Amino acid sequence: MGKPDLLKTSPPFADRAAQLSRHSTPYRDPVVRIHWERLSEQAFWLPEQAVSLYGIEEYDALPLEVRRTLSHYEFARFLSAGAWLESLFLQRLARAALKGPRATRIYHLHELREEAGHSLMFLEFFERTDLKEAALDAPFDPWLTMLGRRLPFHSTLFWSAILLGEEIPDRLNRYVRLHAQGLCPVAVELCALHSTDEARHIAYGREVLGHRLERAGRVTRLVLGRALDMLLHRFVTTFYYPPQSLYVHAGLPPAPWAARAAVHPARRQFVAHALGPTIARLRGLGLTVSWP
Ligand SMILES: [Fe+2]
Ligand SMILES: [Fe+2]
Repeated sequence: MGKPDLLKTSPPFADRAAQLSRHSTPYRDPVVRIHWERLSEQAFWLPEQAVSLYGIEEYDALPLEVRRTLSHYEFARFLSAGAWLESLFLQRLARAALKGPRATRIYHLHELREEAGHSLMFLEFFERTDLKEAALDAPFDPWLTMLGRRLPFHSTLFWSAILLGEEIPDRLNRYVRLHAQGLCPVAVELCALHSTDEARHIAYGREVLGHRLERAGRVTRLVLGRALDMLLHRFVTTFYYPPQSLYVHAGLPPAPWAARAAVHPARRQFVAHALGPTIARLRGLGLTVSWP
């Protein structure tokens, strides 16, 4: 006998899934919604405050074109990390779509379609740029890849990882939307479309996690809090701290840029501020997260 399907025994949960499915309809393909002709390499693709080296004296002194190009590479790397994470989630969702109550299966299929749409949008973006592929495809966290493949679909830890994997990059999407002035319009459109779908995915992730935590005792919450700290650290590194190779591909003068970004107070503050609402929500669920 296999493990009981917790979603199957939760009618309120199914109601929420049905409600979110209604909000996912009608589906509109993001690839055809974006005004690709507005893609510009003469504009920043990230607000400069969101660039990993912002505030570091040697970076601030670099010519405008170099700083702009770095924003292109960092934005593209951010999308590439998104496509990596979505590919893991797509595999898990595809399997889950075969099991459980009909309402959650339908919702999983909506999410599958939307995540596939995001990845298509990212790949279309890469197709239209001249960035060096090697800069974007540097390997992502192997530990997160392993967890994404192996954690049981209905486990608390899996849904914790899903929630963090959606919320942490979405905070940057939202930052771009709020600081769109002067940015490349395609980058802003892309973040806005992604963020709109992610709001539903995050609502679903919170619902599942909240449901799972109802059964969790104090010790479980404590252990989960420690696991969340580790996940947070890895997701934050993946999405907010580019590898050294990216700075080289972007054409920056030789310097240990990645190491400098990792310890620079301005970057730490930016990330802490961006993730503040996520951390507060985790604590609201009774989880003891010590990050940052
Ligand atoms: Fe997505
Ligand atoms: Fe998502």
